[in-house]
Amino acid sequence: MSSTISAGMRKKLLQAATKVMKNAHAPYSNFHVGSAVLLTNGKIVTGCNVENASYGMTNCAERTAIFSAVAQFGPKIEIRAVAVTNDHGVSCSPCGACRQVIYEFGPHAVIFFQGANGPKQAHITELLPEGFRLQ
Ligand code: THU
Repeated sequence: MSSTISAGMRKKLLQAATKVMKNAHAPYSNFHVGSAVLLTNGKIVTGCNVENASYGMTNCAERTAIFSAVAQFGPKIEIRAVAVTNDHGVSCSPCGACRQVIYEFGPHAVIFFQGANGPKQAHITELLPEGFRLQ
């Protein structure tokens, strides 16, 4: 079951995502994305997309944030919420790869993103039904 995230915290996460978005390395798509991850320890970790001339090496903002969180706090982190923003103001939910990575560290996580009809909130299991786990 997911915990309720206050409107104030949601705003804080979206603001942090928008701030880090400016660090994106996105010369190929020109689509800058930022993400802020709230952990159950209360910490907020941010990340941006990092593209590469070998396009497939691109790392999305969400995975950058999550991998950074693991690097900072270790593999026992649990994600409470993920916020995603982009500089085109268009709908942008986490890609399939990022959904799987969010699920690994946050099976109860709530995701805030820009949907087709404006800001949206969804539970990770809505975005990734039947997510894969090894155990
Ligand atoms: N991207 C993200 O960083 N997060 C998303 O949720 C969607 C896509 C990035 C990957 C690539 O650098 C650019 O956006 C265009 O696909």
